[in-house]
Amino acid sequence: MPDQPSLDRNLDQLLSEECGRSGPSDKPKLLKVLLAVQERMGYVPPHSIPQIARRVGATEADVAGVLSYYPDLRTFAPGRHVIRICMGESCFANRCSRVLRALNDHLGIVIGETDAGRRFTLEKVYCMGNCAVAPTVAVNQDLFGRVEPEQIPSIVDCYR
Ligand code: FES
Repeated sequence: MPDQPSLDRNLDQLLSEECGRSGPSDKPKLLKVLLAVQERMGYVPPHSIPQIARRVGATEADVAGVLSYYPDLRTFAPGRHVIRICMGESCFANRCSRVLRALNDHLGIVIGETDAGRRFTLEKVYCMGNCAVAPTVAVNQDLFGRVEPEQIPSIVDCYR
């Protein structure tokens, strides 16, 4: 994990790229900027909120509000692998709660947590566009469809 000064330098450079060089930009860019920060750093560090607010011409409350509204945005460093379980309509109808219980049991964590070894973070999402083969689980960018609870150990253990 990079130290904070290098994180801040990276963030400064990233914000310059995303917001351009002509100073404060516009609020509609806020979500795009936050997603870009998360893409590059793995999360949006809470201490970066004032810096982001200044660059996009928003208030710190605006930034915090967007951060808390979108479940895809995280404010903590995730584990090496991010496991997302879909709780959207199709996945719910196809009993994703059974799959979630299997993930909880196998990983020893609940949604929003990272395991002690910082290998896995478990998150929920609402539809990954994979409804035809619900229920869906993603490990990083890899999608798994028609997941049965019994498959969870073999899916997860490939990433250990
Ligand atoms: S509802 Fe789960 S992939 Fe669409």
